[in-house]
Amino acid sequence: MSTRVCLAPVVVSTSSTSKTSTPCRLRDHRGHRPVVAIGASARRLSALTVTRAAPSGQGVDARRFFSPSKINLFLRITARRPDGFHDLASLFHVVDLGDDMSFAKSSSETKDTLICNDPTIPTDESNLVIKALNLFRAKTGIEQYFWIELDKKVPHGAGLGGGSGNAATTLFAANELCGRPATEADLLEWSGEIGSDISVFFSNGAAYCTGRGEIVENVEPPLDLGTEMLLVKPPMGCSTPAIFKALDLDGRSTADPLALLKAIGDDGCSEAVCINDLEAPAFTVLPELAELKESLKQATADKNTIVFMSGSGSTIVIVGDDDVPAFVAEDETLFKAPTRLITRKPGEWYVPTLDRR
Ligand code: C5P
Repeated sequence: MSTRVCLAPVVVSTSSTSKTSTPCRLRDHRGHRPVVAIGASARRLSALTVTRAAPSGQGVDARRFFSPSKINLFLRITARRPDGFHDLASLFHVVDLGDDMSFAKSSSETKDTLICNDPTIPTDESNLVIKALNLFRAKTGIEQYFWIELDKKVPHGAGLGGGSGNAATTLFAANELCGRPATEADLLEWSGEIGSDISVFFSNGAAYCTGRGEIVENVEPPLDLGTEMLLVKPPMGCSTPAIFKALDLDGRSTADPLALLKAIGDDGCSEAVCINDLEAPAFTVLPELAELKESLKQATADKNTIVFMSGSGSTIVIVGDDDVPAFVAEDETLFKAPTRLITRKPGEWYVPTLDRR
């Protein structure tokens, strides 16, 4: 299937998110009252890539790239397709929780070398990073192999597209290291061949996605980029195929996704707009997730937050506050990370907003 991008004009905010500078605005779903949300210990990081020494034997320098993740501000499933996939209509946004990746050209003429800090992640041909490099070589005809170091921070089975972000970052990085033989439109089109959630990373950061997720339309970020957000994930992950399998099409929302897109652009997040058709099946598969969402809603209710699941789960997103609720702080099994929406300019890659060192 081909991948399309709509080159709609996009306003990319370049506002700083420093806690001591610009207060960030989040629209309140109850009365559309602006809520002042001030960034956490946020600090704009400036470097896109940093050159550093490659491991011995590489003989060249490695370049570092930030590999972001994504959230779905709303997610409607519009149809079950004959090929077993589902058509969706979703407002995706790239966020600054991400992995660190380093790339160098390898002198090998037969294989890539992927090194990952997480021993549970396969580093063979099943990894999306290697799939992306195989795709890059097949499409460009360039027989270049790579050395890649992947420092994972984004949990998997999370609905955050961490592996998809790695694949997109790999396509971008390989193209940079090889002197940009492909256009970004090429990378976007190719990315749909190896996964549903990769294409969104070739948008400007905010994208209305349809098809399997590979038809990408740039939109203006619907919220101030400094809006405080907290991601909370239980130790159990969600298997995307299992969640789609558990989906009861009769139990879906009937909301028009284009109306949701307009509403979030006009009025910001609200419970009525931030709906996710995959919540119900995820809560069936993982009842503890429904309890976690409810507890997070209650714990942050006085902050006018909006709470919803991202993608096929199991991450719950809190929009409007990034303080870690006491019950979350006490539970060491929960993954928790403050995050911010991020965008990029064409030709550049993403950089994180928050300094997590
Ligand atoms: O494309 P990706 O590898 O993320 O998809 C994993 C699985 O999730 C697919 O094999 C399919 O079962 C399900 N899926 C779907 N509809 C989508 C995306 C994924 O049914 N739009």
